Amino acid sequence: RISNELQSMLDAHELLRKFYHHLLVNTKEGQHALEYLLNRGFTRESIDKFQIGYSLNSWDFVCKFLSKRDFSPEWMEKAGLIIKRERDGTYFDRFRDRIMFPIFDRHGNTIAFSGRSLGAEEPKYLNSPETAIFNKSKILYNYHLAKPSIKKMQHAVLFEGFADCIAADRSGVENGIATMGTSLTDDHIALLRQSVQSITICYDSDKAGIEAAYRAGNHLHNAGFQIKVAMMADGQDPDEYIKKNGADKFRSEVIGASLTWMAFKFLYFRRGKNLQNEGDRLAYIEVILKEISQLSKAVERDHYLRQLAAEFSLSLEALMQQQKQFFFAEK
Ligand code: UTP
Ligand code: MN
Ligand code: MN
Ligand code: MN
Ligand code: MN
Repeated sequence: RISNELQSMLDAHELLRKFYHHLLVNTKEGQHALEYLLNRGFTRESIDKFQIGYSLNSWDFVCKFLSKRDFSPEWMEKAGLIIKRERDGTYFDRFRDRIMFPIFDRHGNTIAFSGRSLGAEEPKYLNSPETAIFNKSKILYNYHLAKPSIKKMQHAVLFEGFADCIAADRSGVENGIATMGTSLTDDHIALLRQSVQSITICYDSDKAGIEAAYRAGNHLHNAGFQIKVAMMADGQDPDEYIKKNGADKFRSEVIGASLTWMAFKFLYFRRGKNLQNEGDRLAYIEVILKEISQLSKAVERDHYLRQLAAEFSLSLEALMQQQKQFFFAEK
């Protein structure tokens, strides 16, 4: 059993989730926000499924809404919904004039919000703070809806953003989840391990996304997951790709064409290098040899060594000879 205070935090989130959604889909105040979403390619169906909402452009709407219903301001402040002014101890709303994405726990309780600005206001996404009911490093966006499909397919797709997860869902990729602007933690991995061991990482294909995919991939690979990495051209993210190219192409040419973990690393270490240049080429061969030497299966080592030898017209003997240094260094 949970305390009355925690229960009141959950109740307030539940009420606000419903009200924000109502404001978005049924009111004149929410109309510009609804138009923003529809313009971006969100459908009415996904707006309902993900219970997306809108928070009014007001400093005290939520304060009044909650106090009318006898919620204690102290606890609502601890829930991250309102903020206390230092100077006079009065309160104001945290989320104002934002698209509201409710964050659900794995049982479907609303435990936090992330609010996206409609214009250029920073931050782009304003998240609830860490609270007694919300711990960002343990929550995977959409896990509660995606879990049945993840279990059935024995596979999950990991995205960087909510919009990507929602666009993918609309495209028939229902086993998608996303972190909330943090890197993948051990807690996330422990949660995933309960239902799946094979994951496609589909982060933004910009520099930051590729670096993050490399880190998440290493983390998951070391934890024993089977990894693939899906990439898009021109630094796009999945949501942009889907809007431009459609659902079928996303499924076949992005998710369907994802790279093995090793093939991704080949590409990853190649970025920024000019392989026509001798120094770059030798540095690349060295780092790939090291990666190959860390593979546990002899057949895989042999396969990639041959591939490397063929690509750079090197003898297999020379590569194996050079690779020995890593075996001695590691063990
Ligand atoms: P991105 O900058 O890639 O945003 O951040 P996005 O998901 O593509 O968002 P849109 O398409 O512009 O709406 C990826 C994720 O990082 C977190 C959010 O979870 C976001 O989905 N983030 C980003 C924040 O928490 N705060 C920010 O200010 C920005
Ligand atoms: Mn609805
Ligand atoms: Mn990004
Ligand atoms: Mn993005
Ligand atoms: Mn985006």
